[in-house]
Amino acid sequence: MPTVYLNGEFLPADKAQVSVYDRGYLLGDGVYEVIPVYAGKAFLLERHLQRLQNSLHGVRIENPHSNEQWTQIIEDLIAKNNNGDQSLYLQVTRGVAPRDHIFPVGVAPSVFLMSNPLLPVAESWKIEGIKAITTADIRWMRCDIKAITLLANSLMKQQAQDAGAQEALLIRDNYLTEGSASNAYAVIDGVIFTAPKDEKVLPGITRDLIIELAAKADMPLHERAVSESALRNADEIWISSSTKEVVPVTLLDGEIVGSGKPGPIWQQMHALFQQYKQEVA
Ligand code: PDD
Repeated sequence: MPTVYLNGEFLPADKAQVSVYDRGYLLGDGVYEVIPVYAGKAFLLERHLQRLQNSLHGVRIENPHSNEQWTQIIEDLIAKNNNGDQSLYLQVTRGVAPRDHIFPVGVAPSVFLMSNPLLPVAESWKIEGIKAITTADIRWMRCDIKAITLLANSLMKQQAQDAGAQEALLIRDNYLTEGSASNAYAVIDGVIFTAPKDEKVLPGITRDLIIELAAKADMPLHERAVSESALRNADEIWISSSTKEVVPVTLLDGEIVGSGKPGPIWQQMHALFQQYKQEVA
């Protein structure tokens, strides 16, 4: 039985209980983080805690813990779940109060963390790539906030699954924003493109790292959105996230992307990413 953290206590997952009046449950009123853990060490933790702070600020929930306190909770939870590789889920909701759209006053946020298995990225995904579909980005205009309210993302990801694909790439006003649970990239004539950080995309931690790795290796990269038609003619398409690292897309809406195999620029970025992981381990 995994150990979870709930409002100050570590306890077996099946003993953790939250109120039906929690605003996370009734209103989706909360924010979250997913943090990969490699060999017992939370990867890029300071960046996740900074983004958590930004999300909390965005929805006007006061951060219930200092970074030192968060780090202690996270280290303890990792240890209580036998170290190794894990995917940590952390959420903060506005707390428990009678249902009302207006924020309650003087209510403490609810804090919940759990450890899930971090499944290694399938070898077949690295050798063959994955399938993706395109779909209209039906989300709100604060996608930079990592809100627990994921109904739109869930609908779009299910649409991909129903089409036999692994991810949905989202199109807003004729431009690629990101994936339903990932950031997205297109490689065109040797240049990597990814949408700029604004209210239309999540500022992915993996995305930031990819941008830094590209800069260090002199790989041309522009934070500029690509049009849907440019996406359809791209030489390579990738997605990235904390749980999937960086994955090549080789089939888009049933059409072959580039050569139909993971491309050379992806190979290079994937190698840099693995090297970076080794270095910080
Ligand atoms: N999702 N964009 C969206 C909409 C996401 O949901 C995610 C990650 C990302 C990638 O961000 P990062 O590199 O920081 O993981 C981009 C997580 C993994 C999830 O919801 O499970």
